[in-house]
Amino acid sequence: MDVDDHHHPSSSIMNSLGLLMTMMMKKKKNIRVFDLTALALLCVCFLYVFLSSPSSNDNPFLFTLRKYSQRHPTIKYNVSTNRDELEEVLANTSMANKSLIIAMVNKAYVEGEKSMLDLFLDSLWLGENTRALKDHLLIVAVDQTSYERCKFLGLHCYKLETDGVDFVGEKMFMSPDFVKMMWRRTLFLRDVLKRGYNFIFTDTDVMWLRNPFSRLILNETFDLQINTDKFNGNERPRANLINTGFFMIRSNNKTIALFNTWYSRKDNSSGKKEQDVLQAIIKEPVFTSLGLNVRFLDTLYFSGFCEDSRDGRAVITVHANCCQSISAKVADLRAVIREWKRFKRESANESLAFGPTNHVECRNSWRSHVIEGRLWL
Ligand SMILES: *[C@@H]1O[C@H](CO)[C@@H](O)[C@H](O)[C@H]1NC(C)=O
Ligand SMILES: *[C@@H]1O[C@H](CO)[C@@H](O)[C@H](O)[C@H]1NC(C)=O
Ligand SMILES: *[C@@H]1O[C@H](CO)[C@@H](O)[C@H](O)[C@H]1NC(C)=O
Ligand SMILES: *[C@@H]1O[C@H](CO)[C@@H](O)[C@H](O)[C@H]1NC(C)=O
Ligand SMILES: *[C@@H]1O[C@H](CO)[C@@H](O)[C@H](O)[C@H]1NC(C)=O
Ligand SMILES: *[C@@H]1O[C@H](CO)[C@@H](O)[C@H](O)[C@H]1NC(C)=O
Ligand SMILES: *[C@@H]1O[C@H](CO)[C@@H](O)[C@H](O)[C@H]1NC(C)=O
Repeated sequence: MDVDDHHHPSSSIMNSLGLLMTMMMKKKKNIRVFDLTALALLCVCFLYVFLSSPSSNDNPFLFTLRKYSQRHPTIKYNVSTNRDELEEVLANTSMANKSLIIAMVNKAYVEGEKSMLDLFLDSLWLGENTRALKDHLLIVAVDQTSYERCKFLGLHCYKLETDGVDFVGEKMFMSPDFVKMMWRRTLFLRDVLKRGYNFIFTDTDVMWLRNPFSRLILNETFDLQINTDKFNGNERPRANLINTGFFMIRSNNKTIALFNTWYSRKDNSSGKKEQDVLQAIIKEPVFTSLGLNVRFLDTLYFSGFCEDSRDGRAVITVHANCCQSISAKVADLRAVIREWKRFKRESANESLAFGPTNHVECRNSWRSHVIEGRLWL
């Protein structure tokens, strides 16, 4: 049930309170008596509101109480069962059809002369029909610094807490914390699906040069539409090499089942990152039995450094995949943004190809013996 459709007895209470106040104003002589009466009535109303409607959140009274009871866990009233902070922020961020865009950041992605998050926002600013998407973007911050940065930028932010793990620093690739963080992401996204939200998940090292909704299929045909590192020329075969850095997923039983299967492999997949685990599942019979309709996205539109789009007129996103470090990604993505600006200026020129900008830093990042580590591929 949609909480917003819920009609609530409190409005009549508020009206009664308003009436009472009016009475008080009129009868100034008896104000002391009315003071007490008002106070008593207020208490009764308050309790009534509190006890009668544990499912609604529209009410400012309830909201305050809930906050209070969260800070004071000894208070037993369980008003928050149906709508917690995540639910609120999802409702706040999503479009009318319960769809939104989700990106995750940690400290390493919000810091630096030009941070990855800044670049991502630049792309939304410079892209075609992408500016309005910012209102439907939820930034999931895994540490305090990135959360504060997100708030500062005036975005929709959610702080993802994880017990016993420090997600602050740049994570060494495949280190225990890196792996934990990736699985935490999978768990979080499953939670969002379970709450009935469809979403595009995007890494912040994906530049949105055009509005992806223009190329994604928005009806119910596909449960999952996912980026590929290399596109084998056909949207259906499961042999495509997926990349979990950008995908659109609908919330339904099948996709939730997929995430359950995926997450259940967490403790039985040592040495594999979650993307490889998903790739493996897609090739297994269990995947067929889930009955999901998957579309693998063509790198002509949803491109990356592994396989550049060959056409600047078609390109929608550019992902800094096939790259080892944050600094290399930032350097090469800045070149993409420069190239995109030039393309927009000169787009009258039919022969212009938005093409491999060489990705020098990223290519060199593989040569380095010291892998700087990164949040995710
Ligand atoms: C409050 O809600 C939580 C989550 O739904 C539940 O586990 C818990 O038992 C509830 N507590 C009370 C006192 O009803
Ligand atoms: C919801 O959005 C409004 C306006 O954008 C903001 O003032 C409010 O704090 C948001 N609530 C949550 C829980 O994010
Ligand atoms: C949701 O609605 C918005 C307009 O409100 C539309 O642009 C978008 O494509 C829709 N998304 C889906 C998945 O239907
Ligand atoms: C869904 O949309 C695609 C492309 O927009 C169209 O080809 C297809 O027929 C649609 N499917 C349904 C069931 O409406
Ligand atoms: C999804 O699962 C729920 C509960 O298990 C069930 O009531 C519902 O009918 C299912 N929906 C579909 C589309 O299979
Ligand atoms: C772990 O995976 C192996 C093969 O990949 C399988 O044989 C085994 O049953 C799995 N164990 C659990 C606990 O799922
Ligand atoms: C079109 O672009 C190509 C390659 O950048 C350039 O050599 C050519 O002079 C341009 N043509 C015009 C008419 O601007």
